[in-house]
Amino acid sequence: MAESAELILDGKSYSLPVIEGTEREKAFDIGKLRDQTGYVTLDSGYKNTGATKSAITFLDGEEGILRYRGYPIEQLAEKSSFIEVAYLLIYGKLPTEAELQNFSNQITKHTLVHEDVRKIFDGFPSAAHPMAILSSLICSLTAFYPESVSPDLSKEEIDLNVIRLMAKISTIAAWTYKNNMGHPLNYPRNDLDYCSNFLYMMFSFPTEKYDIDPRIVSALNKLLILHADHEQNCSTSTVRLVGSANASLYGSVSAGINALWGPLHGGANQEVLEMLQAIQKDGGDTSKFIAKAKDKNDSFRLMGFGHRVYKNFDPRAKIIKKAADEVLAALGIDDPLLKIAQELEQAALTDQYFIERKLYPNVDFYSGIIYRAIGIPTEMFTVMFALGRLPGWIAQWKEMRENKEPIGRPRQIYTGETERDYTPIEQRS
Ligand code: MLT
Repeated sequence: MAESAELILDGKSYSLPVIEGTEREKAFDIGKLRDQTGYVTLDSGYKNTGATKSAITFLDGEEGILRYRGYPIEQLAEKSSFIEVAYLLIYGKLPTEAELQNFSNQITKHTLVHEDVRKIFDGFPSAAHPMAILSSLICSLTAFYPESVSPDLSKEEIDLNVIRLMAKISTIAAWTYKNNMGHPLNYPRNDLDYCSNFLYMMFSFPTEKYDIDPRIVSALNKLLILHADHEQNCSTSTVRLVGSANASLYGSVSAGINALWGPLHGGANQEVLEMLQAIQKDGGDTSKFIAKAKDKNDSFRLMGFGHRVYKNFDPRAKIIKKAADEVLAALGIDDPLLKIAQELEQAALTDQYFIERKLYPNVDFYSGIIYRAIGIPTEMFTVMFALGRLPGWIAQWKEMRENKEPIGRPRQIYTGETERDYTPIEQRS
């Protein structure tokens, strides 16, 4: 007999079906709860709410497990490339050689953006944050491809939008930086792979030869893979919710970019670096800041420690820490900020206060360090996160659409005034 839970309300019993996932996670199906009982559930921040059934990413916060389409993140980070992982997330299987070649060629073919996109850059203040520009320009793709708003796109039309977005985001992302710096914008190079081309557009100048460092390309592939999906986090839930109204892929992803920009979400890696800079400016005494972090009356917070769903460790942080150590050693980087980071990390891993509260360094802590080591400026950290998260957003939007999920429409428990009569203005005190 199928498992169910019994709910007793006012002496009446209701049966709630139990749903079980392939990894044995269980949920009460409350889809008919309001119709049957008049009650809804209340779960601020959705910590106990499964908003959807998804076959893309599995995460076990207690055990520190992360898998894309069943493949452990450790194996993908070690053996795969970002473009292969993007294919895996979006299409549900590892590609054959021909499929990967075709996917990669298609993306390369679409890296140019409409020349009018360049003109939009002129409308932004030169000091604009690159995330503001990125979200606006990704949304603007809906204006350049108006057919993308149709609710009845064919499989081929969806694939074309996927390819365009994967291709153009790296050009737009690199240009946000170049524009910010007042540098000439570099056009993409179709002879380069995805990560090399991005680095070329970011760092080269028309006046000089730019050598692409394969160690940096490999670190970038790893970083993007580690960020590629994380099931129903804030930005992904945003993409699915916006997409559930049949909004275009570009519009939905642009909304996700704005969610990611928040300092409690993807903006955290920028905050980590800013925290390290503040500690350095103060004289670099990490023990002082560790004491501040422990002091209940002090507003100082250590950024990049602990995670909402990982209770013991963040599996991505383990991989990225190793990569950071390797990259720093390989590039021979000696950076005082990195010394501060290592001292904080050491304190958090050995101090009972942090151990008991499970405040271990997370993926944002190390990603900031490694991005700095490979020359990515602090303001671009969250843009890099967006670049990595894109295949996840696309896969989740596509899954939501293919499963014909209904428009998202949460309920609420109203806590405002009960009915009262309108008071004319002269009678108000
Ligand atoms: C993420 O990768 O999206 C972050 O770790 C945040 C989260 O999963 O809630």
